[in-house]
Amino acid sequence: MKSKVSKIGVLCSGGDSPGMNAGIRAVVRTGIYHGLEVYGVMRGYSGMVEDDIYRMESRSVANIIQRGGTVLKTARCKEFFSYEGRKKAYDNLKKRGIDGLVILGGDGSFRGAQTFSNEFDIPCIGLPGTIDKDIAGTDFTIGFDTAVNTAVEAIDKIRDTADAHDRLFIIEVMGRDAGYIALHSGIATGAENILIPERKTDIDSLIESLQEKEKRKKLVNLIVVAEGDQFGGAELSKMIKERMPLLETRVCILGHIQRGGSPTCFDRLIASRMGYSAVECLIEGRHNVFVGIVNNKMHYIPLNEAVKKKQRIGEEWIKIVKILAT
Ligand code: F6P
Repeated sequence: MKSKVSKIGVLCSGGDSPGMNAGIRAVVRTGIYHGLEVYGVMRGYSGMVEDDIYRMESRSVANIIQRGGTVLKTARCKEFFSYEGRKKAYDNLKKRGIDGLVILGGDGSFRGAQTFSNEFDIPCIGLPGTIDKDIAGTDFTIGFDTAVNTAVEAIDKIRDTADAHDRLFIIEVMGRDAGYIALHSGIATGAENILIPERKTDIDSLIESLQEKEKRKKLVNLIVVAEGDQFGGAELSKMIKERMPLLETRVCILGHIQRGGSPTCFDRLIASRMGYSAVECLIEGRHNVFVGIVNNKMHYIPLNEAVKKKQRIGEEWIKIVKILAT
């Protein structure tokens, strides 16, 4: 089959996530294998607007599969929100003959790609790269597994000191509006309570459960709270202190540590598979889809579906938390 593209660009947009480098590597090497020219776009859509684009060879992606961050850097680009900005970006691609794009990023980046592709008829393929796992249509996103494992490692350490002092710890994890990092890391560390934005937090029953534990001398408690929950770590701690002044409480906000570090095997693997598939998509002439994995199979989901829907958290997850966290 004759390829529908001959020169492709690859870029990362929005927040970085561990595994992006593995994805870039897969795109570059698969493209070159098929005889395409591959171009790296620096700093997301900013590099397209500002013409910061360079030709990549197979060696350009040597020794990066194990590295966190992204060698192409990433950014959130204000100029790309305007038609003038996108036109500049298009002109910079056109002068090099770039006729297809792979974008690693989250739903905001996909929204930009969709608009750009509609206006200038450049096929865009998305790779879901975000630690938040908040994109509908894929079981996993690149970076989520690493972020969760980082959170688990940190929370295990916190449990040691919590246990030594009989303290309550509130650990706030990332996830923007989604509770997946909290849910997975909370279950995996045996947290007594997990607060996520997908469920309304009932503060009275949380306090009651802590009081009940206090009565039976269970003083070590871990509460994992998603940053998008209605109560942040600090506010939650204040409310608990007001109602249970004798309980020793500490707050730990894990923050950007969750975004960095060497990607796990799982993230390297899905990024490699997704990057490979993205190039195949462009060669076959697919337009405006992102590559997802569902039941361990590749799926191609229209970009606008990722933009509209959020992943849902099933009821059985909530049940597991309730039953195990006694
Ligand atoms: O989307 C990834 C993410 O790390 C979110 O979990 C978090 O809310 C946000 O990005 C932080 O963004 P920034 O790095 O711009 O502070």
